[in-house]
Amino acid sequence: MKIKASLNRRNFTRGGLALAASGALTSTVSGWATQPSRANKFKQAKVLHPWLMGYDTASQDSFHAQATIQGVWPKELVGTFYRNGPARHEIGDYRYSHWFDGDGMLQAYRMSDNGVSHSAKFVQTYKYQAEKREGRAMYPGFASVPDNPAPVTSPDSTNVGNISVLHHHGKLLALWEAGSPWEMDEDTLDTKGVYSFTPQTKGVPFSAHPRVEADGTLWNFGYLSNAKLLVLWHIDAKGKLVKVDKINVDPISMPHDFIVTSKHLMIMMPPFHYESNSGPTFMDAHSWNPDLPCRVLVVDKNDFQNHFWVELPSQWVFHYGNGWEDEAGIIRFDAARASNPSDMTEVFREIMHGNIAPGTGSHHHQYRIDTKRKSISEAPMFSPTIHSEFPSVDPRISCRRNNLLVMLTRDTEQPALHSNLNEIATFTFDSGRLKTFRYPDHQLPEEHVFVPKPGSKPESAGWIVGTALDWKSQQTLMTVFDVRAVQDGPVATATLPYALPLGLHGKFVHA
Ligand SMILES: [Fe+2]
Repeated sequence: MKIKASLNRRNFTRGGLALAASGALTSTVSGWATQPSRANKFKQAKVLHPWLMGYDTASQDSFHAQATIQGVWPKELVGTFYRNGPARHEIGDYRYSHWFDGDGMLQAYRMSDNGVSHSAKFVQTYKYQAEKREGRAMYPGFASVPDNPAPVTSPDSTNVGNISVLHHHGKLLALWEAGSPWEMDEDTLDTKGVYSFTPQTKGVPFSAHPRVEADGTLWNFGYLSNAKLLVLWHIDAKGKLVKVDKINVDPISMPHDFIVTSKHLMIMMPPFHYESNSGPTFMDAHSWNPDLPCRVLVVDKNDFQNHFWVELPSQWVFHYGNGWEDEAGIIRFDAARASNPSDMTEVFREIMHGNIAPGTGSHHHQYRIDTKRKSISEAPMFSPTIHSEFPSVDPRISCRRNNLLVMLTRDTEQPALHSNLNEIATFTFDSGRLKTFRYPDHQLPEEHVFVPKPGSKPESAGWIVGTALDWKSQQTLMTVFDVRAVQDGPVATATLPYALPLGLHGKFVHA
């Protein structure tokens, strides 16, 4: 299997994200020779497969509308659901060559007695503003390089702020993986600028998947590929930096998410190893080594230098649901496990050309780490035909024992008109029961999250809130399920008068 994708198509030397993240000040890449054909190919493919509109550029620079409600909106479901995601995929004739390179657009669905309103704006990153001003693509990204790219002068030169969103200590932050958070205005969605927890940590990478404990304590990681360093963050509920430290990791991979328990942090290092100057883009500078183990780092929360490694068979993971640790020091966590990173290296690249690849997909697994014996094991949770991604839990039991998991799934034995995940599912660990609701084929569901009912006991009551792109009606909708009866379908739907590109991660903030 070829994971180091399509190097023969390229006609340039590598630069970009890794150089930026490691503090190198110049980039000497040359660009694609076939740009217009990629945009045209995608346009042609959309005629045959209209659902590909999910990977199109947003039709407007900003949006604002009142949604139309169907069903009965739960009266206690008031607050704001924020979602971030790539929403500008083309600049003029230039189309990015990877889904993850699209410039970030932050959306807010505001739910109140007056119904549901929606607004969205692009994150005004340095890159977005410069390219808007110049009218051309200027900067290399995760896996795309335009012609005649501008020099990358800092980690945030290419930071598109497009992966996730965090609401913490009164700040709304749009998150990328290899740079700083962008501080956003909660009410207007205007971009205030790059956010730093302290002046000393300005520009230190802060990944898109921080974990927040029920008391507001925040943990996160970042990585500096060229320097082979993993950065770990500990921030209190008031947003004050408690500690930040680094661990040497060689070889270093591209971790995307991690697990926090009452005592430890766990970060997987799949054998997708960064090799400086070995590829034309940051993604291509990584090599997949299927014969090597997946290294798993377990770190003491109180002392980041107190850590140990265990090993799993070769594998790739984007997202974890939740992790927790018992009195005996046994850590349990779940993850959407893939056998390799080809969905990222191939599928999300090919789809930008309009090519639909089946993909490897990921399958939910449960893991067990014995912190005393320093051992780890894994087991699949469902049949191999069930693909899963975007796991979510009740935020009130984050980093503690959970019994309920919310996620997107797809049963590959059931054909569909598109290749994305198409079900919303709940899984209860103690009963082993999986409940699913399949979206109609003309709707592409995005990540859904667990929103607790105010005043209820953890995991006892609440809603699953998510969004979906209806490619047939060309509208984006927000759906609400009763978390106890997802199989019954949405209890309410809020439909927007327009369609938005498919996004990545969202967060619900209670009013
Ligand atoms: Fe993610």
